Amino acid sequence: MSQCRKWIYVGFLPIVLQTISTPPTAAATQVAKGKSAIESLPLPTKNGYYYFRGRQDPRKVELGRLLFFDKLLSGNMNTSCATCHHPLADTGDGLSLPVGEGGRGLGVTRDTGRGRNQIHERVPRNAPPIFNLGAKQFRRMFHDGRVEKDPSQPSGFRSPAGPFLPQDLDNVLAAQAMFPVTSATEMAGQAGENDVADAAASNDVLLVWELLARRLRAIPEYVDLFFEVFPELPSAQAISFTHAANAIAAFEAVAWRADDSPFDRFLRGDKRALSRAAKRGMKLFYGSIGCSSCHAGVFQTDHKFHAVAMPQIGPGKGDGPDGRDDFGRERVTLSPFDRFRFRTPPLRNVAITGPWGHDGAYNTLRAVVEHHFDPLQALADYDISQASLPARDDLDAVDSVAHADVARRSAIAEACELERKHVSVAATDDILAFLHALTDPTSLDLRRDVPARVPSGLPLAE
Ligand code: HEC
Ligand code: HEC
Repeated sequence: MSQCRKWIYVGFLPIVLQTISTPPTAAATQVAKGKSAIESLPLPTKNGYYYFRGRQDPRKVELGRLLFFDKLLSGNMNTSCATCHHPLADTGDGLSLPVGEGGRGLGVTRDTGRGRNQIHERVPRNAPPIFNLGAKQFRRMFHDGRVEKDPSQPSGFRSPAGPFLPQDLDNVLAAQAMFPVTSATEMAGQAGENDVADAAASNDVLLVWELLARRLRAIPEYVDLFFEVFPELPSAQAISFTHAANAIAAFEAVAWRADDSPFDRFLRGDKRALSRAAKRGMKLFYGSIGCSSCHAGVFQTDHKFHAVAMPQIGPGKGDGPDGRDDFGRERVTLSPFDRFRFRTPPLRNVAITGPWGHDGAYNTLRAVVEHHFDPLQALADYDISQASLPARDDLDAVDSVAHADVARRSAIAEACELERKHVSVAATDDILAFLHALTDPTSLDLRRDVPARVPSGLPLAE
């Protein structure tokens, strides 16, 4: 690896910070007076950062909430969005890799299913949290950004559905919501099990969306709700999955805005909002250790793709000789330069959204942070016991295939952009204190987001 690629970010840091952030706030200037001065901290968030500016038709949000929890949207009517993004698991599932349709139970207690209905494989990537994705700066969804805002497309978005993605999607969150229902392992089910699964297996996304819309049209309570929220609908027949996706997006954006953490309060001028340790950690993060060269701005992401030598576990995304690899961003751009690059994750609420990494390789926050200090050593030393996966022999057998292969491990190491850094235990503790200060207390208990029932009458949990 050429020297210039290693930690090139450190050299750029002052420039990066200047460009991503506008003049420091009063609180930030205080910090900047310290010896290891931070050039500047991001500005605090404001309503204008978000779609709807904090306002949104509450009936649309409520409809979105019901849809988000309704298993009606899965082929076999056994999985909802909430299965993998549950409020009781901090909008994730607490697992390294999700157990999609066929599994039973919630969060870390979820099993891999029984008999004919047991899952065929794990979902190959970690289910990311859904906090603050209603902020307009999030223009790319998924670990590889395969759904992204692109005004040159007729739909306004680039996505795996290409020209088939409908127009009239409100935003990129709505565009994203079109896809989980088309995935066999996540929600649709296996070919032969139901009509939605058959349509998904033949890549007929339009039919998947139409079949699901038919299910919604057949439930009078949903029809009434859609009419209320979308008064322009001429008839029940006109209810489409696009309407459902727009409502789901409204719910996600409004329910899971999380910008009142101690860090936010500090940015808004409350100097006492952060502990001393968190302040020291913030200085390291936005200063000398250079986390913010990638985890930039107020949401700690540059929205770009980087290779940090995250160990590869799980069934893989179908890349490489046996499909067990995940080439990350290369899958979208088809450029070998992008191999093993994944989107820089935002770090809001990061202390409560484990396991961490695109495949949930690490089940402790400290381990994933320490990985950044000596990535190649961490990669070499990695053991799958650091992940959190419900056991089943045949699934376990494929989980470590990619990682156990020396050649693949060195390819991941070779692509790594991070260079080794010596960071003391005390400094690591400070960084962790800062990461904990990114937790919005209102996100700690999300029970309020779980509906008591859904219009299909399907159970919310088994
Ligand atoms: C079986 C588990 C599962 C189900 C069910 C599921 N998701 Fe996800 N979700 C994931 C995984 C895994 C990813 C990341 C996939 C990737 O990056 O390739 C993801 C990604 C996302 C993202 C992108 C987050 C980001 O930061 O890029 C959003 C938003 C989301 N899901 C919302 C939904 C909605 C809405 C539904 C229901 C229509 C849903 N999910 C159903 C597992 C699931
Ligand atoms: C070169 C860019 C880069 C730098 C510098 C960097 N990170 Fe990361 N970080 C990433 C990427 C990319 C990922 C996701 C990698 C993956 O999933 O394969 C990540 C993942 C993480 C995660 C896991 C988040 C999650 O939700 O899974 C944490 C925590 C984290 N980084 C903290 C830090 C800290 C603290 C620093 C500074 C010590 C830092 N990062 C420096 C790019 C970077």
